[in-house]
Amino acid sequence: MRVRRVTVTACVCLLVAAGGTTAQEGAAPSPLHGLALTPPMGWNSWNKFGCDVSDQLIREVADAMVANGMRDAGYEYVVIDDCWQVDRDAAGNIVVDPERFPSGMQALADYVHARGLKFGVYSDAGTATCQGRPGSRGYEYQDARQYAAWGVDYLKYDWCNTGTQDAPASYGLMRQALEQAGRPIVFSLCEWGRNKPWLWGEGIGHLWRTTGDIQDCFDCRRDWGGYGWTQILDLQDGLETYAGPGHWNDPDMLEVGNGGMTVSEYRAHFSLWAMLAAPLMAGNDVRAMAGEIREILLNAEVIAVDQDALGRQARRVRDDGDLEVWARELADGSRAVALLNRGSAPASIAVAWPEIGYPAHVEAGVRDLWLHRDLPRATGRYSATVPPHDVVMVRIAP
Ligand code: GLA
Repeated sequence: MRVRRVTVTACVCLLVAAGGTTAQEGAAPSPLHGLALTPPMGWNSWNKFGCDVSDQLIREVADAMVANGMRDAGYEYVVIDDCWQVDRDAAGNIVVDPERFPSGMQALADYVHARGLKFGVYSDAGTATCQGRPGSRGYEYQDARQYAAWGVDYLKYDWCNTGTQDAPASYGLMRQALEQAGRPIVFSLCEWGRNKPWLWGEGIGHLWRTTGDIQDCFDCRRDWGGYGWTQILDLQDGLETYAGPGHWNDPDMLEVGNGGMTVSEYRAHFSLWAMLAAPLMAGNDVRAMAGEIREILLNAEVIAVDQDALGRQARRVRDDGDLEVWARELADGSRAVALLNRGSAPASIAVAWPEIGYPAHVEAGVRDLWLHRDLPRATGRYSATVPPHDVVMVRIAP
């Protein structure tokens, strides 16, 4: 009898240590646990289409993601951002725009799922979305149940029109509503970094925006708070310790292919987002992509860095004005290194092994992740000439 009791106790301890719950505790395991163990990848309508979203667009995008190889490269979630919702009915149910989404959300989710993709929607923690559509405040449980019934797999939850609301409490409430709805839904907090979500977001959401909205430019700043991607990059420096499997810093969606930057600038943007273990949410018209844009978004070696199982976000290990080195450790002990030239002339950028945590005497293999080529082995340091507004990205393995 005594021996038996000890065994049962040991089993309970093991289950709890593994993050599970026990029958004795009576609680079902959370449907939101174990999601986003690597940064979510997919597509979101906002950056390119704004409010011009429709059933037809989403279906065409899903088809394109299958045909152009994005799905097989790891892009999984097809997310409709703001403007799909127009009202609430007398019972408080959210009403989908009947003109733009005539077959309703469930049919659209089914269509996306049938293509091996997952389906996402957007709402807002306040009374209205950023475009003035109905928000979820006061309807959290009802909305979460609706999303689960439709087959939603991803919720982006914005922060407009929240007045004096408390951010952790508001996002925590929707987290609880999603838990009770019972469907595994990736929960994306879009609070723009206002209340330092990296300090409280883990356990509430799977990712949290760290800044205002990205713009399709290298280094611009908008009066209302929009940022070019290098400005967003600067704001990620120091946040690296908060990211890891299931809880990611989100420097916002990709602008790659939207027309405002050069191919080099897009290559650098994509490389640095992969270095940051950022969610890779394409934001362009994937139905009509130029070959050079496709080559960026589908670079399997760069995607592998983003999706590395260790989940370690890069640090800026060297900052020489316009010339920077970012590095991250990967699960196999190798390092991904990005040499970034923010200046307007070609420049030589070097990384020394001690800066990436290796002894200086070590010899290492160097692979160029854009040329898809092994370079000569190097000892102590690696340097390259980097074109203006461009990057050299390598994997260094002793
Ligand atoms: C905010 C978000 C954006 C987008 C828009 C939609 O600005 O930060 O990513 O969702 O709202 O209105």
